[in-house]
Amino acid sequence: MLTKKQTQVLDFIKVYMAKHSYAPSLDEIKKKFKLASVSTAHYYISKLQDAGFLNKEHNQPRAVSTVEAKQTVEIPILGAIAAGQPIEAIEIPDETITITRDEIGKQGKHYALRVQGSSMIDEGIFDGDIVVIRKQEVAENGQTVVAVIDDNQATLKKLYRENGKFRLQPANPTLFPIYRDEVEVRGVVVKIIRNLESQLDQGQSRDEKYVRKIDYSWDYRGEKTKSHTHGIHTYPAMFIPQVGRRLLETYSKEGDTICDIFCGSGSALVESRLIGRNAYGIDLNPLAIFLAKAKTTPINPQKLTKEYLALLDRVEKIKDKEIQRPNFKNIDFWFKDKVIIKLAKLKKAIREIKDETIQNFLMVAFSETVRYSSNTKTGEFKLVRVKGDKLEKHDPDVIGIFRKHAEKNIAGMTDFYKDAKKDVWTKIIYGDSSKDNGIKANFIDCIITSPPYGDSRTTVAYGQFSRLSAQWIDVFDDPNDASGVDNDLLGGRATKNLIHTLSSGYLKESLEKITKQDETRAKDVLSFNLGLNECLKQAHRILKPKKYFCLVVGNRLVKQVRIPTDFIIAELAEKIGFTCEDIIVRNIPGKRMPIKNSPTNIVGALEETMNKESIVVLRKN
Ligand SMILES: C[S@@+](CC[C@H](N)C(=O)[O-])C[C@H]1O[C@@H](n2cnc3c(N)ncnc32)[C@H](O)[C@@H]1O
Repeated sequence: MLTKKQTQVLDFIKVYMAKHSYAPSLDEIKKKFKLASVSTAHYYISKLQDAGFLNKEHNQPRAVSTVEAKQTVEIPILGAIAAGQPIEAIEIPDETITITRDEIGKQGKHYALRVQGSSMIDEGIFDGDIVVIRKQEVAENGQTVVAVIDDNQATLKKLYRENGKFRLQPANPTLFPIYRDEVEVRGVVVKIIRNLESQLDQGQSRDEKYVRKIDYSWDYRGEKTKSHTHGIHTYPAMFIPQVGRRLLETYSKEGDTICDIFCGSGSALVESRLIGRNAYGIDLNPLAIFLAKAKTTPINPQKLTKEYLALLDRVEKIKDKEIQRPNFKNIDFWFKDKVIIKLAKLKKAIREIKDETIQNFLMVAFSETVRYSSNTKTGEFKLVRVKGDKLEKHDPDVIGIFRKHAEKNIAGMTDFYKDAKKDVWTKIIYGDSSKDNGIKANFIDCIITSPPYGDSRTTVAYGQFSRLSAQWIDVFDDPNDASGVDNDLLGGRATKNLIHTLSSGYLKESLEKITKQDETRAKDVLSFNLGLNECLKQAHRILKPKKYFCLVVGNRLVKQVRIPTDFIIAELAEKIGFTCEDIIVRNIPGKRMPIKNSPTNIVGALEETMNKESIVVLRKN
């Protein structure tokens, strides 16, 4: 399937290649179609490659070539269809889409409709999309159909036959089904075409200094995010690997040295390793450093499995008197005695492994075991203890939990070991990104990162999330130091007053609004932005001129004030010596972060934090 714009891009590439014998660069495609960014050009190329119209070659700037055209069909767009309340079909004259035969099968007649409404979003059908329909008058239970009811009202729904009636089911949990005795089926959906072109051109507010572009192609809804070593340990607000990879592929090339200045558990570093980029990662949370190292160090899976099996044998034989109970504050509040003994045995058996990388890798599964067997509520990033009956009954199978995680992790490492590029390196630095961490000036080819969303107290408490694990796996000299991590992270300490010299009108406006309601919260916000500004300066120092710095950020609400962190970053960065080339907005379908928080500290008084994020693309001048 090709949309109109994709066909135009393909035609341009063909004509260009006929003239020059090589393909146009992404920048030339961007200029030709007045696209807002090279990432949009990259998006069209990927679509043409996925559809088989362009060859997939090495990830080089001009490395596309056309392939022999596949058999295509032109399908008329007959009108609009309601994915909501039924509407009368609206005719759209003379519009067609081109699509390859392979995509819709050989049989049947087809037509296309433009979707209006949001009742089918859980099926991946959005407002503005085009659906290709195979004409037929009958459908099977559960198929998505064009249904005509009530005297020529058409709607797009899933069809079910129930007790002699028809149920037209929306794929949106907020909407009710429609029941009818009679339904006329006019066809079933065989293909959904996401209407990115118009969405890419939308979402811009005219009087703003910067432009946000909604681009659903960055959502990666429903895609697997736990491949390779990505899934070996939970961490708050992890990168979706696909986002990391796409940024890396768009803004860097094979052999480059990239850096993630807030690397967290190391998702961007894993992707760098898989696609042949050397990588630096920096983080100030010791657990993050531990995880990032384990995720990016390839280990021979055979050796790993051998050590793992030997470990299971050993752990059974360890006697209670042989173990050393860890000694940190409140250990008995967070763990039952029985659990402490089992965890201590497991830890002893892991520590006996001689190969340090294998020991650390299995410690990752141990760290997850610590969290799952503790008295904390699962699914929370903050430490909240279960209560009453639940606590009483809490009797975790410590070894069982460990086995489950260790075996899943070994499977992930097997893939990583196979796919990781051998001739690149990853270096992980425990440090504060607002300071000089020893990376040389003008050394880095590309920075990809996602900073924290704000201070740890009211958004994601990285330190708190990591505390119990960190205390058990000895990432601190003194395990009691673990509680101090959040204070040291960006925005961890409120400023004394609200006087500052940051040059951002958007920040000034937000601070004024928040101050009116709560001065302390305004100081938290200022502290975060002061720290972030220092990080931007360091990023500018280490990046080579003309190279890219991409930040995935959230615009959070504080006291009902939406803080435009993306615009603030753009303003601050432009003062430092960057140009803001793009701000892309994506939905967050699966990221582990609080969508709601309770800023008032009143139970039930939830305030939405965010379900969208912006990708700010900066370029060093
Ligand atoms: C959004 S998370 C990054 C998650 C990461 N992309 C991943 O996939 O796991 C932000 C990270 O910034 C780190 N951080 C906060 N302040 C920092 C600072 N001043 N210097 C370095 N890292 C910091 C936190 O510890 C946290 O791991």
